[in-house]
Amino acid sequence: MSKTLNNFSSIREKVSHGKITVDLTTSISKLSLRNPTVLASGILGSSYSLLKRVEDAGAGALTTKTITRDPREGYVNPVFVDLGYGYLNAIGLRNPGAEEFSKELSRATKNIQIPIITSIGGSKFEEFIFVAEKMLEAGCDALELNLSCPHVDGYGLDVGLDAKLTCEIIKQLKSVSSKPIFAKISLHQSQKNLLEKYINAGLDGITAINALKGLAISIEALSPILSNVIGGLSGPCIKPVALAIVYEIHREFPDIPIIGVGGIQSPEDAIEMILVGASAVGIGSAIVRKDLKIFMEIIDGIERFLLDNGFKSVKELIGYINRR
Ligand SMILES: Cc1cc2nc3c(=O)[nH]c(=O)nc-3n(C[C@H](O)[C@H](O)[C@H](O)COP(=O)(O)O)c2cc1C
Repeated sequence: MSKTLNNFSSIREKVSHGKITVDLTTSISKLSLRNPTVLASGILGSSYSLLKRVEDAGAGALTTKTITRDPREGYVNPVFVDLGYGYLNAIGLRNPGAEEFSKELSRATKNIQIPIITSIGGSKFEEFIFVAEKMLEAGCDALELNLSCPHVDGYGLDVGLDAKLTCEIIKQLKSVSSKPIFAKISLHQSQKNLLEKYINAGLDGITAINALKGLAISIEALSPILSNVIGGLSGPCIKPVALAIVYEIHREFPDIPIIGVGGIQSPEDAIEMILVGASAVGIGSAIVRKDLKIFMEIIDGIERFLLDNGFKSVKELIGYINRR
């Protein structure tokens, strides 16, 4: 089934207040979104039923957990710490593997109307291509290459810093599919010359940012808290970093759509991210504290902001501060 905006007019596509109508729709490459909220990878994206719950909660698009060729059990507990100002996690890319997940994804693509972006990971060219082909067969709407997971050796960051390997993966995927290819990056891949290479290889969009490499210590136990020692820092404390990276990417590559992720906990955070250049905003850690109601809270807040400030469409806000 083709996923056009007509399929899902129910949740906040166009909102009328008296005579005033505001348009919450946005797009990322070929994907049309009913509103700019996107489920970030790794949170509730590992099964059909969880993805469906997030669609029902109002999201504009979904990103799955990062899927690898082989199943991964991930690390032993503790894998998650609430630091008060943010979170540190090292789940270890726990996922059921491409074969098993493709069954969940096939069900999801048949029953879910909003775009589904599948996050894929690997340590080698062949692994990425294998997973991508399985996910494309299962009908995903776009692929997101995980180039930035900070806590699994040989995966994520290690791939994203290898420009030759990343460009070969992008070129190969572009030659076999017309579906959009996005790169999930972090601080470490945000340099202009590296992104330029990915874009020249055919990249259609950028998701920025992933959790940043971090470490938490217990002085009582005289040891690191996470079993893996190193984890990924997310939540409110990374928002200024995410905003700066999205701002710079949008300034350098204004035609490349960006999903801005990192520390978005409120409508105000989402609006800031759109103002610096994001076409859509990823919601991750906020779900831990606020549950799925965070989606409607952000959607309602953006709508209110547009109405209060005389904007007709969310698209008018994208990169607004760069145009001043
Ligand atoms: C528990 C957890 C698991 C995550 N797993 C993934 C993953 O599998 N793939 C990925 O690209 N990002 C993963 N992330 C990173 C998020 O998608 C997001 O980029 C990051 O958490 C920053 O956004 P936030 O501050 O809104 O959480 C994970 C984050 C958390 C907290």
